[in-house]
Amino acid sequence: MANYYHDFSSIFLVVFLFSVSFWSNDVVARQPFACDPKNGVTRGLRFCKATLPMHVRVGDLIGRLTLQEKIRLLVNNAAGVPRLGIQGYEWWSEALHGVSNVGPGTKFGGAFPGATSFPQVITTAASFNESLWEEIGRVVSDEARAMYNGGQAGLTYWSPNVNIFRDPRWGRGQETPGEDPILAGKYAANYVRGLQGNGAGNRLKVAACCKHYTAYDLDNWNGVDRFHFNARVSKQDLEDTYNVPFKACVLEGKVASVMCSYNQVNGIPTCADPNLLKNTIRGQWHLNGYIVSDCDSVGVLYDSQHYTKTPEEAAADTIKAGLDLDCGPFLAVHTEAAVSRGLVSEIDVNNALANTITVQMRLGMFDGEPSAQLFGNLGPENVCTPTHQQLALEAAHQGIVLLQNRGPSLPLSTRRHRTVAVIGPNSDVTETMIGNYAGVACGYTTPLQGIGRYARTIHQAGCTGVACNDNQLFGAAEAAARQADATVLVMGLDQSIEAEFRDRTGLLLPGHQQELVSRVAKASRGPTILVLMSGGPIDVSFAKNDPRVGAILWVGYPGQAGGAAIADVIFGTKNPGGKLPMTWYPQSYLAKVPMTSMGLRSDPTKGYPGRTYRFYKGPVVFPFGYGLSYTRFSHKVAQAPTRVSVPLVNLGAAANSTTLSNGVRVTHTDCNSLTLGVHIDVENNGHMDGTHSLLVFSSPPIGKWAAEKQLVGFQKVNLAAGSRQRVRVGVHVCNHLSIVDQFGIRRIPMGQHTLHIGDDLKHSISFEADLGEIKS
Ligand SMILES: *[C@@H]1O[C@H](CO)[C@@H](O)[C@H](O)[C@H]1NC(C)=O
Ligand SMILES: *[C@@H]1O[C@H](CO)[C@@H](O)[C@H](O)[C@H]1NC(C)=O
Repeated sequence: MANYYHDFSSIFLVVFLFSVSFWSNDVVARQPFACDPKNGVTRGLRFCKATLPMHVRVGDLIGRLTLQEKIRLLVNNAAGVPRLGIQGYEWWSEALHGVSNVGPGTKFGGAFPGATSFPQVITTAASFNESLWEEIGRVVSDEARAMYNGGQAGLTYWSPNVNIFRDPRWGRGQETPGEDPILAGKYAANYVRGLQGNGAGNRLKVAACCKHYTAYDLDNWNGVDRFHFNARVSKQDLEDTYNVPFKACVLEGKVASVMCSYNQVNGIPTCADPNLLKNTIRGQWHLNGYIVSDCDSVGVLYDSQHYTKTPEEAAADTIKAGLDLDCGPFLAVHTEAAVSRGLVSEIDVNNALANTITVQMRLGMFDGEPSAQLFGNLGPENVCTPTHQQLALEAAHQGIVLLQNRGPSLPLSTRRHRTVAVIGPNSDVTETMIGNYAGVACGYTTPLQGIGRYARTIHQAGCTGVACNDNQLFGAAEAAARQADATVLVMGLDQSIEAEFRDRTGLLLPGHQQELVSRVAKASRGPTILVLMSGGPIDVSFAKNDPRVGAILWVGYPGQAGGAAIADVIFGTKNPGGKLPMTWYPQSYLAKVPMTSMGLRSDPTKGYPGRTYRFYKGPVVFPFGYGLSYTRFSHKVAQAPTRVSVPLVNLGAAANSTTLSNGVRVTHTDCNSLTLGVHIDVENNGHMDGTHSLLVFSSPPIGKWAAEKQLVGFQKVNLAAGSRQRVRVGVHVCNHLSIVDQFGIRRIPMGQHTLHIGDDLKHSISFEADLGEIKS
């Protein structure tokens, strides 16, 4: 997003600037968006009567609008309708990991100089803690509502990004919850619930949006960019992987919006594909909300992809496909001509508006004064509160992953490590820690400041910036390491290496960073700790294999409190418990997988190694789900089913031996009763309290099914040293133990499924079809 905003026609900018004018005031309560009780115009308008059913109000409003007025409501910068007492509205705000200023709907300054800036999503995903994800959403939406009340933000947030982190080079992988569809789906549902409040009576605290639907995970690689990319995706991969987080977001998160992407899928731009929009999101998943385009993607499918001959056809195709709102001016400019040429009907336009206006009503925007509403009391004092900032620190603690700990080298001790050399281009950074789609943070604690709370520090940047183009400063860094009791190197990437519209070209540390690490580790008097800041994985085999590098931590982009969290983990105030949400491939992997190949499954005949831990079986630097602790955990199955009878529904002839050996279709199964409770005893066998994320994988019966291993559930526990706790992981048979065949049909294989619990434990469950109903 964002790249195309400057192309907006000047008329839009005028409207936009006009609406900015009241934002510059300090703590001025927002004027009502519509239905202002002080405005004589609105008296007697049925759509303002909050006691009427919402669909009646929406119908009443649409019935009053002229075609021209309707068309000016089809875009993010929606025009006001003064004769009906309705103000303009900017739909585009963002809140990926804190209220952001990426969209034009949100402005910092005045009474709202900043907002709590949580770790980037890839870091938060590493916590494998569902309640944390929801809690962050709750805090972010408190701050968003407060800023809306103060006239500085919207109520419609185009977050989260739940695309699968398919390729390690993707510049936006940092924004996502990683490479696993079940993990991404659970993240989506929890974060969305937190943001939206999903309150009584269909009410919304803010409206979230799952994006970018679908199979969008390439920005700009080797001359191919997202505006021109046609993702060739099999039915199997779409159902099995790419669509899974979106489906969970709609069905479980009850999200109020989905955004279609820039790219094409199998030759059709996603925003113009009725099968993807109307039939799937609305038809099968029953979205209660609106579908929005990525910014200017309707223009892109006409101008860049030449998908239609005329702009009117582009407008008509997208609206008919199920698009309700255009981020960009295209629909406002071209829809009227499309209607007058008969390419799209006014009824289609009405349907689109019904979807957007209903969301605005659910947000309370047609209920008069914001201050009189449910969240009307939230104001500047509810932003950047100590509690909110504490949660940002807590999230960073929970997301840090310990990748290596020789000796062990960590934790350091304040008694023995009184002087610490803090080295590296990311050792004293602020904005780097919040990644992209961020806002203005409340404040920062850099790694240097964090470590300074525990020890005397000697600071050397080592390189100028992460590009690290020369080694001139290395001598001073080595000298610092020689004098100190321990050395912490904070290395890695930033937005100059991985970002929107910037995919990586390699997986190694940039420039001379490796050389700096090796030289400093060699010179270091005490243990050397390597801290990696990045969204995507880094091939750090050199450090993994260097006996002088004592420990490696991956911190992602850890947010405003990142430096404090890093220091707490290094000095053992916090025991790390994060796990990698994506595979760390070796650099050599890249030569075998063009970023443009969407296939997830390996194809040995073509030398294609496959993607993600589910299908790629080659060497890795660190695997998905990997992460160490300062203590040790063991597992035992306490209670779990060994046989499951799968009840079938309405099948008649479908249940013969052939169909059973292919697996029972999920649509032929009574799924409601099919959640298995797997109870596992987890014990902390070490000497330190710690948190443990218990990951449960499953593999289908051996034979015709590819020997896939799939994450099916996870649960995080806190355990004091020496203590034990029974953990229940719920496994949904239809969602998690099914496999998808090559036609995109989800089936439950009969026979023996194996659950893999942690690294060491296996448990078998035998599945058979319950044919009782058929026989009777
Ligand atoms: C089994 O059922 C399927 C689906 O109804 C049908 O196409 C197939 O011919 C049947 N096979 C046998 C062996 O009865
Ligand atoms: C998950 O996160 C929440 C919110 O920060 C926290 O209260 C809880 O202790 C975490 N769970 C575990 C097991 O660490």
